[in-house]
Amino acid sequence: MADVSTTQPAARIAGTGHYVPEKVLTNLDLEKMVDTSDQWIVERTGIRERRIAAEGETTSDMAAEAARRALAKAELEATDIDLILVATVTPDMPLPSTAMFVQQKIGARADCPGFDLAAACAGFIYGLSIAEKYVRTGAAKNVLVIGVELLSRVLDWTDRGTCVLFGDGAGAVVVSPARDDGRGIASTHIYGDGRLAESLCIPAGGSREPASHETVDKNRHLVKMIGQDIFKVAVKNLTAASVTALEHNGLSPDDVDWVVPHQANSRILEGVSRRCGVPMDRFYINIDRFGNTSSASVPIALDEGVRNGTLKPGMNLLMCALGGGIAWGSALVRL
Ligand code: COA
Repeated sequence: MADVSTTQPAARIAGTGHYVPEKVLTNLDLEKMVDTSDQWIVERTGIRERRIAAEGETTSDMAAEAARRALAKAELEATDIDLILVATVTPDMPLPSTAMFVQQKIGARADCPGFDLAAACAGFIYGLSIAEKYVRTGAAKNVLVIGVELLSRVLDWTDRGTCVLFGDGAGAVVVSPARDDGRGIASTHIYGDGRLAESLCIPAGGSREPASHETVDKNRHLVKMIGQDIFKVAVKNLTAASVTALEHNGLSPDDVDWVVPHQANSRILEGVSRRCGVPMDRFYINIDRFGNTSSASVPIALDEGVRNGTLKPGMNLLMCALGGGIAWGSALVRL
């Protein structure tokens, strides 16, 4: 592994954690619910099964459990956290923020600020970018960044074009000041393009189309997606953001130990791999077991890889994600 990093990062990932619900929904289960097949889902997406939250389980429950696990790994108490960022498009409620429920559930300080950020599948990269800047400026010492989604409650279980793709789960990291060892968050780059805003959306339930009997009857409060619109830009934009991360840090594809990507579709990732020059055997993939968990997917993969020993201290990790908005971004982390 070449040591080509020129700058000392200001912030590092001090601990990681994730939580997924126990209930597994397989492609065979879905075959009984909609007109689909295990073969179609595996060939088109790489997904074999996904997790579904239990009745009564909330977004903040999952977020808090992932946060507790990340805090334990960082050897910090909840009271050491100075800011809580919750990336989600499936908050407990539209008001207040899920971050405030998490504050209470993990026992963070009662004056600890926190907010939700809605950047869909790119939410964790956006959160990491914000946390890095708070730590870099000294405005916060320890920032909790959580990506969490409970998409099963906003999916249209009669729409085979969307319901087979997504799953529930949470991932969390603690971002803390870097030590003087070259390890840490070397760069983050985030982007957005509102021209495709309605290609992936939940049309009703907000202020534009408030919830009503009619919106519910028409399933307008559930996820709508024009998958092909997203697919086309995903490969292009994820590649561009990944190449930018490498160039910014003076790294070549060979210097990347692992890509830890958003897990939306294995065909998208094969396209990114071909174009950015990092072979697929260095992409950390767990889409087969969890499906697309939106903002939770990168931190779930990160924590899983750390805990199973695949992602080791000192390795160069390239993270990239893209989703509704459309919003996308990349991060280069020396673990
Ligand atoms: N099972 C069986 N057939 C299905 C199906 C399913 N679950 N979902 C769609 N189909 C059918 C379609 O109806 C269509 O049939 P037709 O040709 O008779 O009209 C056919 O399969 C092809 O559909 P298409 O939408 O062209 O498939 P695709 O190859 O583009 O794959 C996605 C669909 C959703 C998997 C793909 O577009 C994708 O992954 N897009 C990006 C989605 C994404 O990343 N979203 C989240 C942002 S992070």
